[in-house]
Amino acid sequence: MSLLEVRDLTTSFQTGGGEVTAVENISFSLEKGEILGIVGESGSGKSVTALAIMGLLPRPPARILGGSIMFEGQDLLRLSDRSMQRLRGPGIAMVFQEPMTSLNPVFTIGEQIMETIGAHESLSQKDRFARAVEMLEKVGIPSATSRMTDYPHQLSGGQRQRVMLAIALVCRPKLLIADEPTTALDVTIQAQILSLLMDLRDEFGMAIMMITHNMGVIAETADRVLVMYAGRTVEQAPVGRLFDHPLHPYTRGLLSCVPTLDQDQDRLVAIPGSLPEPSRRPPGCRFSARCSYAVPACGESIPPLAMFEPGHAAACIRVRDIG
Ligand SMILES: Nc1ncnc2c1ncn2[C@@H]1O[C@H](COP(=O)(O)OP(=O)(O)O)[C@@H](O)[C@H]1O
Ligand SMILES: [Mg+2]
Repeated sequence: MSLLEVRDLTTSFQTGGGEVTAVENISFSLEKGEILGIVGESGSGKSVTALAIMGLLPRPPARILGGSIMFEGQDLLRLSDRSMQRLRGPGIAMVFQEPMTSLNPVFTIGEQIMETIGAHESLSQKDRFARAVEMLEKVGIPSATSRMTDYPHQLSGGQRQRVMLAIALVCRPKLLIADEPTTALDVTIQAQILSLLMDLRDEFGMAIMMITHNMGVIAETADRVLVMYAGRTVEQAPVGRLFDHPLHPYTRGLLSCVPTLDQDQDRLVAIPGSLPEPSRRPPGCRFSARCSYAVPACGESIPPLAMFEPGHAAACIRVRDIG
């Protein structure tokens, strides 16, 4: 049994212009200790997928239209709010892109870490303090004991992201969802946080869903990769295979402009055009309007995700032709 098994997840948002789907038929699994990279341009549905797993999609306007999210054999979509709350922390934890918005400015970082521990375990104040300091040291905060009484604004951006990691990891989650965890940070800090995450994976055996728009981050961290485009999976493969043999034209485009970790890839100059708004998606393959390999048939129906090698699937009817 996989640690996490997402099957045919489909979600929508109610908007002024009607109901639009944000993710469609997303399926993937994650084993214990594995790092799954989820990559795609901004707006492709990565965060919505993550929030659906965490049970944190705002409903309404969001709706789960179908699918299942099995975590250790139980369907999270059927859990009560209370059970879901108990799972967040020791089961699944998440770190977000912007650490300042997720830390509470009026409490010290020590209070915030200790509160997280207290929500899930009955430890004495002294033990919670010790555990919090230990976790701050683990995520690389120097002089951790004296930092406990600092407020978030007294820390640098990189340190705040480390504190968020400490909060996420203090209950030893089996799965960490890292949603663009380093996007707001400068390069050196970014590399440090990524290597820290991999060390923690090795130490705790936790699985990581590494969400990013940056193929450089994928290359550095992931074991397997899911490529998303406009709410759908376009390709899935082991990381080495994806970089050596990308099948989908969108993946090829992403790879032709892989930045090193010190460049940002928010604008994908190598792929002309931009992601279609959910309400203006073309019929057929959603990438077809930007694809240099597209033929008329691409615009007729959504290409199914087909397996080309064990573990390597792509949703493109042109794969065989374009070699
Ligand atoms: N609260 C919301 N209301 C309406 N649409 C939303 C909301 N949140 C996300 N979406 C839409 O869902 C799609 C996927 O968004 P998201 O998962 O945030 O993309 P990513 O994380 O890949 O950048 C986008 O088209 C976005 O506009
Ligand atoms: Mg996002």
